[in-house]
Amino acid sequence: MTNISSILTQQHFEKDELVALLACEGDDMDLLLKRALEVKKEHVGPQVHLRGLIELSNICRKSCLYCGIRSDNRKVERYELTDEEVISCARLAHQLGYGSVAIQGGERSDKVFTDRITRLVRQIKEIDGGSLGITLSLGEQSEEVYRDWFEAGAHRYLLRIEASNEELYYRIHPRDERHDFHQRLGCIDQLLKIGYQTGTGVMVGLPFQTLSDLADDLLFFLRKDVAMVGMGPFIPHPDTPLYAYADQIPSAEERMNLTLKMIAILRLMMPDINMVAATANQTVDLMGREKAILAGANVIMPNLTPNEFREDYLIYPDKACVGDKPEQCRFCLDKRMESIGHEIQYNAWGDSPAFTRKHQK
Ligand code: 5AD
Ligand code: FES
Repeated sequence: MTNISSILTQQHFEKDELVALLACEGDDMDLLLKRALEVKKEHVGPQVHLRGLIELSNICRKSCLYCGIRSDNRKVERYELTDEEVISCARLAHQLGYGSVAIQGGERSDKVFTDRITRLVRQIKEIDGGSLGITLSLGEQSEEVYRDWFEAGAHRYLLRIEASNEELYYRIHPRDERHDFHQRLGCIDQLLKIGYQTGTGVMVGLPFQTLSDLADDLLFFLRKDVAMVGMGPFIPHPDTPLYAYADQIPSAEERMNLTLKMIAILRLMMPDINMVAATANQTVDLMGREKAILAGANVIMPNLTPNEFREDYLIYPDKACVGDKPEQCRFCLDKRMESIGHEIQYNAWGDSPAFTRKHQK
């Protein structure tokens, strides 16, 4: 039998050790989570950073097999926030003391869209002398577009790889020119090269996904030396092709626990990165976000999207907080974090020490 407590004394893990950690249960799992929380407090402290989430639009040119807003899902009513709506969300973020906003949306690469983002980033940068940090999460783009957005003032970019195993990638995406594994990998390299604080991540508990795949995902994040990671449980959406496999995936509790173990192990491997407690955690478990924070995550993305549009941005069903007003959200988060001995850091960008360290070299 593998001894989890002896593995936990190490900082570097071999693949078989990662698999053993991912498989651990009961007291062993408690030990892993406890160690991750200690390492987190030591390296990034008990502060939780906020990114006010603006869901710009659900119009998407892609058709990922798991995603509720995939272009082939005709049941979704498509929307796009106006410039004024985006700017007022950003102003609200500033008023609420959120140091950063994250603009997320379906993937589009036409020039009308990419120029609009450049303009919006510049406008957000004008709020209070550039005090808001800007994260973009708008999918795969050309290097030139990534550069334009960076020069306009975006300094973080999130692009989840979704699966670092090429074979698994093509089981959860159509195999066509719009969904190209190597292109996605290339985007991550470009983002890193341009100087973005780059984030990636995967879904946990996908059909066909093995512990060996998840261990490879962790090794991928380490190899790329990314500054941020977001991981959350897969939630089958009834209007997507992957729903056909909903009875072949681990239970909600198992997906939650596996996500917590992924977060905890990564905190041990990459002690000073930023890690998001994804909203999907809260969908499978009412205390999911708190559990993710206690397992090593340190970022939360409260939703700022005007409530009337949130029902149309259901990438997965039963998304948490869809009915909450932003002000309620802030109050609720404060209480939730306080109850687990953490503290929200307001009015700060909350860059990861991992990124600062790399760029001071
Ligand atoms: N369940 C969980 N997460 C999902 N995402 C997309 N669809 C689902 C789903 N059904 C995640 C993807 C994407 C992020 C925005 O949301 O990882 O990158
Ligand atoms: Fe929009 Fe995957 S369905 S990027």
